[in-house]
Amino acid sequence: MKFNFCMKIKSLRQVKNLTGKRALLRVDYNVPIEKDSGAAGTARIKDDYKVVAGLPTIRFLLRHKCKVIIITHLGRPIKNQKYFSVKPIADRLSELLGKKVKFVDDCAGLKAGTEVSKMRRGEILMLENLRFSYDEENNDLGFAKKLAKLADIYVNDAFAASHRAHASVSAIKNYLPSYAGLLLENEIVNLNKILRPQSPLIAIIGGAKMETKTPLIKKLLKKSSRILIGGALANNFLATHKIEVGKSLCDKKSIALAKRFLNKKIILPVDVITGTRKDGQCEGRSKGVYQVKKNETILDIGPKTIKLYSRFIKKAKTIIWNGPMGMYESEHFKYGTLSIARAVASRSSGAAFGVVGGGETIEALKMTKMLNYVDWVSTGGGAMLAYLSGEKMPGLKGIVK
Ligand code: ADP
Ligand code: 3PG
Ligand code: MG
Repeated sequence: MKFNFCMKIKSLRQVKNLTGKRALLRVDYNVPIEKDSGAAGTARIKDDYKVVAGLPTIRFLLRHKCKVIIITHLGRPIKNQKYFSVKPIADRLSELLGKKVKFVDDCAGLKAGTEVSKMRRGEILMLENLRFSYDEENNDLGFAKKLAKLADIYVNDAFAASHRAHASVSAIKNYLPSYAGLLLENEIVNLNKILRPQSPLIAIIGGAKMETKTPLIKKLLKKSSRILIGGALANNFLATHKIEVGKSLCDKKSIALAKRFLNKKIILPVDVITGTRKDGQCEGRSKGVYQVKKNETILDIGPKTIKLYSRFIKKAKTIIWNGPMGMYESEHFKYGTLSIARAVASRSSGAAFGVVGGGETIEALKMTKMLNYVDWVSTGGGAMLAYLSGEKMPGLKGIVK
């Protein structure tokens, strides 16, 4: 099965005679940053997991004596704000590789071209944030052509940005022979195991915004044996049963979306932890879902729900988890999420194949120090949801069939 999936990927590993080639490597180094706290007005990287995840592809290209030209976006800059410069990431990458990574504060212009022309085999050059040019997000052909001129081949290792129709993942493929990097390939192979799961598949879906999760719930309903709902998402489902959710995050549109999924496979919390403040800066109270008062806010799943959900997780052969079970950022409302994280991690790497994805979900999983137990931690947030929901992904067109 795995072999068949691999066959459909135009992998970098299939390229013959890479030696000396200029490889334009699109990565997603869109990492969480702390503004203005780095040197000379640049940002400090708060978490480098995306940089670490991309190392095998860079090492592969170096082993084949390529000239490696790295491109990425960082954040959503409005202008060329200095703290969105990718220079600190080039420095971090250099530390991780134990090798010089040259940086140029230009992307598709003359400066970049000059630096590329000076490159020798086995050297790495990182170009400035792609989003400092509006042409990137406009999927501009001219911009893509300029980028393409810098290289001989194009490697997409930016799975996390591949749901975007942007020049460096989409239009670029018109101008260069294009391949999937090793990380992108691994994302596809592992996420395909969720799309063709070993039964029973247990999906755990939480988080805040209903509309971002409905395509995934719709897709997984067919494949899963159960979908365990948590987080603010659960409020909308509870409201469809006319259960009082007080001041919890919940709106008419989301309730209407939840109504479409009233199905016996959908499992809802039986108890919750409520607070008196929406920001979670208050003590929590455990109660059954029918006991929530008008002035209360649901901020976590309760102990009975943790037990119920854990029982399902313990029987799973395949697990997918996206979205925290509660406002895990608050000391008082983190236990549901952390307990589910531990249950997922414990069942993974052996008894079941476990996949976790989503920026905040991974952050919560890290808090348990059990990240390494999970079989695949996706670097894609929106991209993972898009891929698993079966959406067309412009960045994968032509390289994943
Ligand atoms: P991810 O980034 O992992 O995909 P989401 O962005 O969907 O996750 O959701 C994460 C956010 O959901 C967190 O900031 C968390 O505080 C919030 N959240 C979860 N449960 C609740 C709740 N009951 N009430 C308010 N916010 C919640
Ligand atoms: C991500 O972090 O999910 C990707 O880098 C995409 O970023 P974007 O949502 O700003 O396009
Ligand atoms: Mg999020």
